[in-house]
Amino acid sequence: MKEIISFTKVGSVLILDQTKLPFVELYVEAKNYSQIIKLIKKLSIRGAPAIGVAGAFACFLAAKDLFEKNSQNFIGTLSKRLDEIKLSRPTAVNLEWAVKRFSYILETNKEKNIGFIKTLFFKEARKIFSEEKKVSESISKVGSKLFKDNFKVLTHCNTGSLATTGPGTALGVIKHANKRIKKLKVYATETRPLLQGSRLTLWECNKSNIDCTLITDSMASHVIKLENIDMVIVGADRIAANGDVANKIGTYQLAVTCSFHKVPFYVAAPFSTFDLSIKSGKEINIEERDKKELLSIGTKIVAKAKKVFNPAFDITPYNLISGIVTEKGIIKKPDKAKILKF
Ligand code: MRU
Repeated sequence: MKEIISFTKVGSVLILDQTKLPFVELYVEAKNYSQIIKLIKKLSIRGAPAIGVAGAFACFLAAKDLFEKNSQNFIGTLSKRLDEIKLSRPTAVNLEWAVKRFSYILETNKEKNIGFIKTLFFKEARKIFSEEKKVSESISKVGSKLFKDNFKVLTHCNTGSLATTGPGTALGVIKHANKRIKKLKVYATETRPLLQGSRLTLWECNKSNIDCTLITDSMASHVIKLENIDMVIVGADRIAANGDVANKIGTYQLAVTCSFHKVPFYVAAPFSTFDLSIKSGKEINIEERDKKELLSIGTKIVAKAKKVFNPAFDITPYNLISGIVTEKGIIKKPDKAKILKF
């Protein structure tokens, strides 16, 4: 697989359009930052770390396309563009985190010439891309140590190479473990309504020769009990200072089931997904998406629905989490004190 996001020789950005997967591997070219915002909003590129990288590439394009000669005007317009990028999806903190790095560059280089700032933006976008790659390689190695031969693991959504610039977070851990241990069995939830599990996780598992069984989201509790699942591992979009985790809708019910059946429930995420500015998950803005996503699956499946609720994420409280796998190690039974010390 080519990189999910890369610069072209002419300075535009190529993005693998994940809405077309698994049947078509189509790369779309974004020539300006607004096009990247649209691709982020419609989930052509998705998954917290990948959204952060896409945001970084958008910041570069936002500066590159700005042909303003007056330094003050350049900084003013660019700052507004950075805010627009930051708001394209609200829940994954990685986007905010990436954009803040560009705002800082702008703030600390106000006196420098415009060309120099544009070069700094290009370097920063490339840096964020390669950092996320290394970080997800480390998470994969660290987390795979939790796995033993004959392990049965369940995962939700897609947290692999399509969600990061490296092997992934939760799915990266699974891929690494699959090389190390014998007879790993994976259960992947389809992840309604946009099917990141059935469309994307299965596609990645097939490529990595992982023994993966597809289930619907509503089968999860049944399968966890019936198959004696050894562990559930998922990714994260934002982790509050107390360890509460926002992740794909359906994660919370998995954690509740794990707690009931005494199955370890792990989250794998880079430090760029921690938001220490918020005390708990209560402060996390959960993205609510278009109701159309529930009303059709290509063809219409609902005749009439007066009310539709479509939150894209939910919050899992820290006390249901056995550990958070990060690039620096595992925070076991996470809470505020442990996270701050880590
Ligand atoms: O709506 P998505 O597909 O962007 O949601 C993705 C998830 O919830 C992932 O679990 C999370 O971003 C972690 S990806 C390494």
